[in-house]
Amino acid sequence: MNQTFLAKRRELPQPRPQMAKKTKKPGKLISFEGSEGSGKTSQIARLAERLQKLRRDVVTVREPGGTEIGEQVRSIIVHNSKGDEMTPETELLLFAAARAQLVREVILPALVRGAIVLSDRYLDSSTVYQGIGRNLAADPVNKINRFAVGNVMPELTIVIDVPTKVGLARIRQRASDLPNRMERENIDFYDKIRAGYLLLAKGMPKRFVVVDGRKTEAAIEKLIWNAVRSRIG
Ligand code: TYD
Repeated sequence: MNQTFLAKRRELPQPRPQMAKKTKKPGKLISFEGSEGSGKTSQIARLAERLQKLRRDVVTVREPGGTEIGEQVRSIIVHNSKGDEMTPETELLLFAAARAQLVREVILPALVRGAIVLSDRYLDSSTVYQGIGRNLAADPVNKINRFAVGNVMPELTIVIDVPTKVGLARIRQRASDLPNRMERENIDFYDKIRAGYLLLAKGMPKRFVVVDGRKTEAAIEKLIWNAVRSRIG
């Protein structure tokens, strides 16, 4: 193999969210994390509404999915009839593949034009679900995560924390496309997920804000708004 080709291959393209034009405010990525039934989705809708009232350009995305390719990957994860046989490594790579596409196709262009991007899950989901939940070693998980996102990291990550029993009771009441697969997991798995998020948040207090998901929706909205307001400029 020729040397120039090898040298070129080592320089993987790293997306760089530039500051939007001086007149515009810079784009920001805010991710939402938490176990199933934590109430992320409705809080994202509330926050998006607040930001739109302030005439901010808001883009909301969800993981896995958010692009045509990403939705196809989602369907492999969800509808795979042999879901039980999917290895944690495969799962990690599929989530990362969907994320890599979402970053380059949607998130980065939105940030460059100055939008606030609200993401329902992002790389921390892989750290926690595949790394901690499914016991994959932290080092490859972090490397794969970084490869997928380049340097597009969240400015702020909001973890909505609920006790496992509360979260599970909530998801049993709603029809979603993933609960069948996820419901096969036991309480211990979700306890690990919850503890994993709290551990991550403790280790990165600047990026993470943990909100008590047992509070009323309005109270949670206020707490989230306080965290967001100071960061969006
Ligand atoms: P989804 O139906 O989108 O539910 P939720 O409202 O809880 O986000 O399900 C996404 C599921 O995929 C959820 O169980 C978490 C899991 N997941 C991972 O295991 N790793 C990941 O990297 C991502 C993004 C999600």
